[in-house]
Amino acid sequence: MDITFLLNGEPVSLTDVSPTTTLLDWLREVRGLTGTKEGCNEGDCGACTVMISDAGGARALNGCILFLPQVQGKHVTTVEGLAAPDGSLHPVQQALVDHHGSQCGFCTPGFAVSMACAHLNGRTDHDTQLAGNLCRCTGYAPIIRAALDAASAPVPGHLENLSLHCSENTTGGSGGLAPRVVQPAHSDDLARWYADHPDATLIAGATDVGLWVTKQFRDLGDVAFLGRCADLRGITDAGDHWRIGAMTSLTALEAHFAPHHPSLAAMLRRYGSVQVRNAATIGGNIANGSPIGDGPPALIALGATLHLRRGDDRRSLPLEAFFLDYGKQDRAPGEFVEAVTVPKQPDTLRCYKLSKRFDQDISAVCGCINIVRTDGGIGSARIAFGGMAGVPKRAAAAEAALTGAPFTADSFRAAMAALKEDFQPMSDMRASAGYRMETAQNMLLRCFHDLSGTMTDVRGVSA
Ligand SMILES: Cc1cc2nc3c(=O)[nH]c(=O)nc-3n(C[C@H](O)[C@H](O)[C@H](O)COP(=O)(O)OP(=O)(O)OC[C@H]3O[C@@H](n4cnc5c(N)ncnc54)[C@H](O)[C@@H]3O)c2cc1C
Ligand code: FES
Ligand code: FES
Repeated sequence: MDITFLLNGEPVSLTDVSPTTTLLDWLREVRGLTGTKEGCNEGDCGACTVMISDAGGARALNGCILFLPQVQGKHVTTVEGLAAPDGSLHPVQQALVDHHGSQCGFCTPGFAVSMACAHLNGRTDHDTQLAGNLCRCTGYAPIIRAALDAASAPVPGHLENLSLHCSENTTGGSGGLAPRVVQPAHSDDLARWYADHPDATLIAGATDVGLWVTKQFRDLGDVAFLGRCADLRGITDAGDHWRIGAMTSLTALEAHFAPHHPSLAAMLRRYGSVQVRNAATIGGNIANGSPIGDGPPALIALGATLHLRRGDDRRSLPLEAFFLDYGKQDRAPGEFVEAVTVPKQPDTLRCYKLSKRFDQDISAVCGCINIVRTDGGIGSARIAFGGMAGVPKRAAAAEAALTGAPFTADSFRAAMAALKEDFQPMSDMRASAGYRMETAQNMLLRCFHDLSGTMTDVRGVSA
């Protein structure tokens, strides 16, 4: 297929590109821009971080799981493009030098690009902004000191308004080659095409699909890139509920929920990394049917409805009903996720993500608990867990034990016992069955203490 974009300010036009060539491979192997490094090739280390700019602003993405068609019409800035045309270093590069933020240097280009993105966007939450970049020898303290030092420097002129010359309304031509590759500009076009090509692979953020290529060397066959379907992206206020388009990124979701359901936003802060959240979409997080995805348990606990479309036919179902069994979802061939709607409600949601690392790790157990209290009692309870079954699943017996019960520790202990009726978790490399059950039960108890006003987060404890 044919693709055009800007690379460090210069226009690039490519013809007959394989749609699953990653930006990282193209930069290094074709363009010879070897500053961008390959560490893990699966989104985990940030060595390949690039800055992608468009009308939505500039964001850090992992080039190793970004397919070339995903940068169609955008501006790609690599580490080679950070210094000014006169060769003077970007403030974050200079600060890395000044603070001895680099030893072997392998991670340094990725750090520099992440830091430059954060700098451009005025972000000073450096721990969060750099959680997706791993360094194995320098240690993080000098790097964070460099980020702090550079924060007050002005954005270099050559990095301002990077999206001005982008032409996002252009589409990459398919080049007439098989397999077929489309980049529909509207969900109506997608619906028509996908109904006719139900075996095709849909590619949203590619944080799952990218690994099918880089790790499993899968041939994806016909593919549709959904990135240009602007009508599938974004969150709209629909009166008593929010409609969240399938292409809404996890970054946007986190920002949206921060004022309404802060516990959910805090959990999403631990979803992958900045680079992953900038790419990953909620539609992909639901459609992949993963039993350990973090989005579905929270949305189920909020009473979300899923909206699916096949051709001109649309249907809606409670989100939990979509997940039929491990690897099996209620989605017909040619049907795609259009949106998820979430009823507005007072905030009573608590989300607890348990993983081996705090940052950038997949959940062993993710518990989302939505308890509505009445005078002295519990009016309703919606509880969903990830990591406890082959699908994200509601805890019906625990919900029943709580609904109508007094708001006491004993009621929550009864729910903890009932959880054994709801789940028979499995053991795997992330956690044993026993650990999963015990920690899930303890999440219920934690919720009781949390809602009672007791500090339950070790990070909130001070002397
Ligand atoms: C380093 C790393 C860390 C991660 N950390 C987490 C984490 O902490 N928590 C977590 O939950 N997940 C995590 N993930 C998994 C991943 O980010 C999510 O599953 C993500 O939400 C998938 O969305 P996507 O847009 O990237 O989907 P894609 O990879 O583009 O697609 C995923 C699947 O969904 C299908 N699909 C996409 N959009 C639609 C649609 N609209 N309709 C129908 N089918 C569709 C695709 O065909 C594919 O089968 C991580 C991934 C990586 C690489
Ligand atoms: S090479 Fe590790 S995130 Fe891309
Ligand atoms: S400086 Fe060596 S990995 Fe970071």
